[in-house]
Amino acid sequence: MSQIYQKSEVAERNGKNGQPVWMIYKGNVYDVTNFIKDHPGGPELILEVAGKDATKAFNNAGHSPDAVQQLKQYKIGEVAIDAQPKPQTANGKSAEPGQTKQPLPQPQQAEKSGGFLCCC
Ligand code: HEM
Repeated sequence: MSQIYQKSEVAERNGKNGQPVWMIYKGNVYDVTNFIKDHPGGPELILEVAGKDATKAFNNAGHSPDAVQQLKQYKIGEVAIDAQPKPQTANGKSAEPGQTKQPLPQPQQAEKSGGFLCCC
């Protein structure tokens, strides 16, 4: 089974103060400490996303399939899913405060019709 890391654990490995360099890509955690010096785009670009989710930065750089393949060898585990995900609306976007579901209207009380219940 894959090792699970908390986002906070990954965030500590940001390459600063002698820390290793970890990054997140598509929910997986990578230790790229030994790779940054060999990165064709330079170490700085990776250090900018060290300890963070680098998915967008990696994809936006337009890496070749070869680069994606190289990345795999540095995988050390997976990132833990957030304990309390934000509430989601039907369209998949995070619900804004005040936009939460309204309670359904309550059925008419039987007493209002004098206690008489009609079955038809
Ligand atoms: C550890 C993860 C990474 C690996 C294995 C990796 C690998 C590579 C490789 C093999 C290339 C050469 C071109 C190619 O084959 O696509 C490259 C170029 C490049 N990478 Fe990465 N990369 C990583 C992370 C990143 C990150 C996080 C960024 C952030 C922006 C980045 C930005 C770039 C850029 C801008 C280039 C183009 C450099 C140039 O053509 O001068 N890379 N990378």
